[in-house]
Amino acid sequence: MDSRRLKASIKMMLGLILTKLMPATTQKIKDSFALQYWGKGVGKSKIGKRIETLIRFYLAHSNKNKGDILEKSHKDFWRNEIDAEWYQKSEARFHDATLPPLAPHIAALNRLIKDTKTRTLCEIGTGDGMLLSHLKNTLASHLTFIGLDLSEQRMALNRNQFSDINFLACDAFDWISQRSEDHTVYITNGGVMEYFSQASLEALFKQIRTEQPHSIISLFHEPIAPDHDLNHDVESRLTLGGEFSYSHNYPKLLERAGFTIQHLEEESHPAGYRALTIIATV
Ligand SMILES: C[S@@+](CC[C@H](N)C(=O)[O-])C[C@H]1O[C@@H](n2cnc3c(N)ncnc32)[C@H](O)[C@@H]1O
Repeated sequence: MDSRRLKASIKMMLGLILTKLMPATTQKIKDSFALQYWGKGVGKSKIGKRIETLIRFYLAHSNKNKGDILEKSHKDFWRNEIDAEWYQKSEARFHDATLPPLAPHIAALNRLIKDTKTRTLCEIGTGDGMLLSHLKNTLASHLTFIGLDLSEQRMALNRNQFSDINFLACDAFDWISQRSEDHTVYITNGGVMEYFSQASLEALFKQIRTEQPHSIISLFHEPIAPDHDLNHDVESRLTLGGEFSYSHNYPKLLERAGFTIQHLEEESHPAGYRALTIIATV
């Protein structure tokens, strides 16, 4: 066994023992799972933080395949816990840092849209709405633009800021699952599908593939774990930074759902992570 695996096995064992010895603390950590990564964890002392780290490690890896605890905790975080500062920062870096590396991918998407009967562009996890507003100003004018995000508070701000875009506060999975309108481009940017479990992601791809077969999926800069071998490792893994979001093998999962890859590029994102951009059609 290599040393990384051995270290992970020891962490799993210690995490399991701690969950058995400390059920109340474990429950508290489950209820606020995402917060430690964002600097607001349950553990306050050095030892408390170490215990929390081990329990989180165990909870995340034992829940990876089922994904219900992880998915719920990420959703709770983005729906309720995030402070406005995160979106203020994302807004501030949009023009200088976020947009320039996106330009070739947006151009590729635009070329593809021109050859289709696309009517709607829908951004899943639109956050501050800056990308959607940019696309509205630069892409084909006949499109309707919709932004979806879990954060009610942020969607209210976006509605005031960009009155010509329809912003909806909802879980994109539920919204898309109930929608049958075809000819839609679904986009994400900066890490959104990383918060969907593999089961939810595959269900979403299948739903779009079967109910909206002339639609396009365009994912910009989704994070991938540094050691995720996209040629061989089809199943999803967890990112390594302690957030415990998902590193999905987007090309293989899209192909498995019946999509054809039209554009694929891996980059080192300015924020320091391995980022995948992929555009796929049925
Ligand atoms: C890392 S942020 C990226 C925000 C934005 N795309 C950007 O690049 O700044 C992830 C965003 O996805 C949203 N999100 C996560 N899961 C979602 C879901 N199931 N439905 C709708 N929005 C979701 C979060 O609320 C958050 O705004």
